[in-house]
Amino acid sequence: MTNISTTLVNSPKALPPSDQLGFGQYFTDHMFVAKYAEGKGWYEASIVPYGPISVDPGASVFHYGQALFEGMKAFRQQDGKVVFFRPEFNYHRLAEGAERMCLQAPPMELFMQGLHELTKVDERWVPHQPNTSLYIRPTLIGTEAFLGVRPSRETTFLILLSPAGSYFSEGAKPVKIWTEEKYLRAAPGGLGAVKAGANYASSLKAALEAKQKGYAQVLWLDVERLGIEEVGTMNVFFVFNNEIVTPALNGSILSGGTRDAIIQVLKKKNLPVVERRITITEVIERLAKGELKEAFGTGTAAVISPIGVIHYNEKDWAINDNETGPLSNELYKEITGIQSGAIKDSMGWITPLT
Ligand code: COI
Repeated sequence: MTNISTTLVNSPKALPPSDQLGFGQYFTDHMFVAKYAEGKGWYEASIVPYGPISVDPGASVFHYGQALFEGMKAFRQQDGKVVFFRPEFNYHRLAEGAERMCLQAPPMELFMQGLHELTKVDERWVPHQPNTSLYIRPTLIGTEAFLGVRPSRETTFLILLSPAGSYFSEGAKPVKIWTEEKYLRAAPGGLGAVKAGANYASSLKAALEAKQKGYAQVLWLDVERLGIEEVGTMNVFFVFNNEIVTPALNGSILSGGTRDAIIQVLKKKNLPVVERRITITEVIERLAKGELKEAFGTGTAAVISPIGVIHYNEKDWAINDNETGPLSNELYKEITGIQSGAIKDSMGWITPLT
């Protein structure tokens, strides 16, 4: 056990109304901070009042984008207890991403201890309302001040907490998506498979232009502008009459925790889920033939987001008459049921806050 020093706020904030949380708008009273330096190891692990941190302006995060994060959630179950959903999954993905980003991953014990102690301190922020959660944002940044281009020898590890409702303003309604043929999110050998801040920086312009055209998110294609990779900030699933397809992890697609959970739930239900390459032309051809029954995005923030319309080749193609399909509904209920405690966790995904 690391000794984590705790400094509590003098005046805790008023809690935001839990029916108007949206996503990412509020931060709790405290945050976790730990530092690493080569030759020194991890030091100064602390829980401190949430607020600005002091980072040297020469730090590599500002110049060369050495930043990596995770998205995970804690839930208030029906009996009032707080649980985490698959924290080990997020730890392992952070550790793998840190290796790619030349950042130092914290040891698993420090990650888990910081997560539990911080959530305990801010437990009152875990909302009670159905379909809400405490979104957790573990983050690693390169903090050595040095302008030569090489990996930072110092890493800062932060955990931020943010009470959350629905990610999209549409709520559970299907979203309209734009097939992006100009901009790329990621390419093989790049950073697409890890949760680097840089991937999101790369996505902003396309998302902005899509929004200006009336679309909530973009459908990302591969370098050939053919293979489907992701949808906005989510992984994507297509439900055909004879198979449920999600793009195989090809090195530039993020290995999403909800993607993995959905695959496991589908397999448990003996439904024909396949991870394989799928092209936009296949999707549109099969949609035109009536074989595409539903499509949805999966992510920690969004959970399951039904896709109602795909724009491709100057045409809006409606899926399931722009209505949420039965499988999207069932999977949403299953995942959120396990998270809220309404459904028994037979998968071993729930970790109680200690
Ligand atoms: C998540 O679903 O956790 C994400 O990280 C997506 C986005 C909010 C960045």
